[in-house]
Amino acid sequence: MLTYISHSDEETERLGRALAAILPFGTVVALEGDLGCGKTVLSRGVARGLGITEPVTSPTFTVAQEYSCGDGRYLYHLDMYRISDENAALAFGIDEYLFQPRAITLVEWPGQIAGLLDDPRLRTIQFTHRGPEERQLDFLNWPEEELAAALR
Ligand SMILES: Nc1ncnc2c1ncn2[C@@H]1O[C@H](COP(=O)(O)OP(=O)(O)O)[C@@H](O)[C@H]1O
Ligand SMILES: [Mg+2]
Repeated sequence: MLTYISHSDEETERLGRALAAILPFGTVVALEGDLGCGKTVLSRGVARGLGITEPVTSPTFTVAQEYSCGDGRYLYHLDMYRISDENAALAFGIDEYLFQPRAITLVEWPGQIAGLLDDPRLRTIQFTHRGPEERQLDFLNWPEEELAAALR
C-alpha cells in the first residue's frame, strides 16, 4: 500500500491533478476520512486534471454533482453523507453514477454504500489528519508503479 503525506491544500489539489492522469474511465474512487481532511480539495484537483474549470464544492446537499469533460465523458462527484443506507442510495438512482465506462466517479463518505462498491474497479484513498495542514493519504487497490510515478 502506498502512503503520501500532503503538507497543504495546494499540494492535495496538485495530487488530485496527477491522479486524474492515471485514472481509467469506469473507475470509482472511494474517499474515506473525517470532515475537513481534504476529500473535496482532492476532488477539485481531479476535476482540474480532467480539464474541468467549474467551481467544485462538496455535493453534501445535492448528493451527486456531474461535471462534463466536454467530450461526452464525465466526472461524477458523490457525497453519501446524507444517504442513510444502500436502499436510499438505490432509490436516489446511484447505480447510474457507479462504474460507468464514460465516467470517473469520486465518492465521499462511501461507507454508507459499501456493498454497492464491491467491485475490482474500486480504488480507495483513506485520509487522516496529522496536523493543521498535514494529511496522510493511504492508497488501497491502486496500481503501485503507476501511482508511484504519478506521485513523484
Ligand atoms: N494538506 C491539506 N490537504 C487538503 N486540505 C487541507 C490541507 N491542509 C489544510 N487543508 C484544509 O482542510 C480543509 C479540507 O476541506 P475539504 O476538502 O472540504 O474536506 P472534506 O471534503 O474531507 O470534508 C480545507 O479548508 C483545506 O484548506
Ligand atoms: Mg467534502
